[in-house]
Amino acid sequence: MNTINSSQIPAGKNNEPPVIKSGLQGEYSIHNNKLIEIEKLTRTYLLGEVEVHALRGVSIEVSKGEFVAIMGASGSGKSTFMNILGCLDKPTKGNYILDNIEVGKLTRDELALIRNKKIGFVFQGFNLLSRTTALENVELPLFYSTVSNKERKEKSVEALKKVGLEERIYHYPNQLSGGQQQRVAIARALVNNPSIVLADEPTGNLDSRTSVEVMEIFQKLNDQGITIILVTHEPDIASFAKRHIVFRDGRIKSDKINVNPRNASEVIKTIPSIDEEDEA
Ligand SMILES: Nc1ncnc2c1ncn2[C@@H]1O[C@H](COP(=O)(O)OP(=O)(O)O)[C@@H](O)[C@H]1O
Ligand SMILES: [Mg+2]
Repeated sequence: MNTINSSQIPAGKNNEPPVIKSGLQGEYSIHNNKLIEIEKLTRTYLLGEVEVHALRGVSIEVSKGEFVAIMGASGSGKSTFMNILGCLDKPTKGNYILDNIEVGKLTRDELALIRNKKIGFVFQGFNLLSRTTALENVELPLFYSTVSNKERKEKSVEALKKVGLEERIYHYPNQLSGGQQQRVAIARALVNNPSIVLADEPTGNLDSRTSVEVMEIFQKLNDQGITIILVTHEPDIASFAKRHIVFRDGRIKSDKINVNPRNASEVIKTIPSIDEEDEA
């Protein structure tokens, strides 16, 4: 495996970014630019009388510009963790600092604001509104801010361009393929210029080529500086990320740098498109 322990990375002096040198091909440098700091996080659900310990003490730091894949068996706490990361849910115990803001101290309204400004979400099931065009779906998060109609449309078209869907902005979800629908969802996640994109099994409903196309988009966004945290149970998909975290029974079982992430643009060239397969 092309992995090393993140503990093997030298810590920077005086908060300077520790840079990994040529041995690791110089591709991966970690900035001491913390975006997420989580300490001893627990989340316990109450089901009637029964306590379900979904997270049992998770501590983790994520810096700006990272691309993290979260893996682990079903029920290991991945989605619970993502919901807390995304400020959709609050921890039972523990600290969560997002971009220097202590999330636990925020009111509901403040949480909603942070979510809207800083975080873009992508889900397995796309979660698009079916009677609404691609453009309108992407515009949706902007209705919570004070932009004009014109600006809302411009920003949304811009986001749809980023995912290569500028020709499809007036299509409805049922007129789009699964991969295109997921790209609309990614555009919707991007429209507020988030610093972080959280994706929970974004390729779970897609065929393998389309999955790689979606990973290509995530890699491009990551190259532009957006931090990406993605849940997947597929090692193939995780191999595009720069860091692998494995959950087990509500705890982090391992946390490793992926020294040689695969390049999705390159991989796509090696996968025949569905049409070609059909003809063959
Ligand atoms: N809303 C909930 N109420 C009660 N238990 C839940 C709830 N959501 C998740 N759980 C439980 O918490 C554990 C972790 O779930 P989850 O975070 O969804 O795992 P994963 O995404 O890794 O499959 C599981 O045992 C699950 O049944
Ligand atoms: Mg899940």
